[in-house]
Amino acid sequence: MLNKFLNLNAYHKAHLFDPLHEKEINREKLPRVLPPSLARLELSGEKYIDIPREVFDIYSKYRPTPLYRARQFEKDIRTNCEIYIKDEGATPTGNHKISSAYLIAYSCKKDGIKTVATETTGNWGIALAMASRRFGIKAVCFMDYESHLERPNRKALMEGFGADVVIVEPPPQQEVKDLLTLSANAAIEFTKRTKGAYYIFGSVYSYFIIPQSVIGLEIKTQLAELNKYPDIVVGTCGGGANLLGTAGVFLADIVDEKRKTVIVSAEAESCPILSEGKMGLYSIDTLKYYPLIHTYGLDGLRDGDYVGGLGSTVVASSVAYFHSTGLIHVNRFSSEEAMKAAEIFHKSEGKLIALETGFTMAAVIKQARENSNKIIVANISSGETDKKFYE
Ligand SMILES: Cc1ncc(COP(=O)(O)O)c(C=O)c1O
Repeated sequence: MLNKFLNLNAYHKAHLFDPLHEKEINREKLPRVLPPSLARLELSGEKYIDIPREVFDIYSKYRPTPLYRARQFEKDIRTNCEIYIKDEGATPTGNHKISSAYLIAYSCKKDGIKTVATETTGNWGIALAMASRRFGIKAVCFMDYESHLERPNRKALMEGFGADVVIVEPPPQQEVKDLLTLSANAAIEFTKRTKGAYYIFGSVYSYFIIPQSVIGLEIKTQLAELNKYPDIVVGTCGGGANLLGTAGVFLADIVDEKRKTVIVSAEAESCPILSEGKMGLYSIDTLKYYPLIHTYGLDGLRDGDYVGGLGSTVVASSVAYFHSTGLIHVNRFSSEEAMKAAEIFHKSEGKLIALETGFTMAAVIKQARENSNKIIVANISSGETDKKFYE
């Protein structure tokens, strides 16, 4: 197993800004809102960062996750491209987020933190709950009412791992479109009134993105064992964890080695964060609490179906940076197209994938049909607890 994370902030400096005055936050001030260990990680410009021994030991129980060729899927969508699937469904929580959760919970434990609060549409909360339990920390997860309606089993799963779960309802007589901000605000209100508690965001910030790099680093090694290197890497972008986790090392190779790999992000029609987002200073909350980052933000969500974790109106600064320099391309899909792609994958490969991964698969199908004899790679999260979508 690999023993270092890749930090994309080595390619563009990470700045954080005070939400009240929009002035750059320095190293000394950041630990007021971020656990000190995560604040250090957030501002690090080191290209490679050692995986702490305790976290490495936990990873080694489930990493590297499998990489396999989806031959039946290739056949069913009639492509001569080779499609490789990195199965993050094979992690303890069935999705990519757990690898960040372990590093975050370990860092909080080291900093003496007893309580963490977060927002979730379901998947991330389960990961934080599981990792927090492993390190003896209390997790309090704020889940929006619509995600709870769509994924009713998630609350019990988080509680099963010892987390407290609060379902966040919209304010009376108001329709709320930005569900992540709704629950992030609620988690931050809780953090402010709870002594010693810290708010953790389930994507976007470097402390979350950096540990995701293990996915792409493993893909590169696993493909190298087959004497292959990808031509096209597909991810889907909520806050950017999945996309940068899968594609980060290949973006680095484009810059360092002038590789010609095409990086594609699948986005939801109702949340066109990459194609319509504007560069500026943003945070996920509207309470002027969490640090602002220089990145793309979206003025709100468009009408459309439920998109789970793809409804983030802010992305990681590395996503904005690499998109603005032309290295990340965008394919946009409706939820219906995503669900259809998920069904095709399920029929071909016998694996249920998460709603969000359906968007990835829609882009994989598009790329496989538009290209010839290319090597395509994408990562999947499990949809085993999403079964409602397939009924
Ligand atoms: C399974 C899955 N895929 C993708 C995402 C998108 O978020 P991110 O871009 O942070 O990976 C989420 C977010 O919750 C998710 O649960």
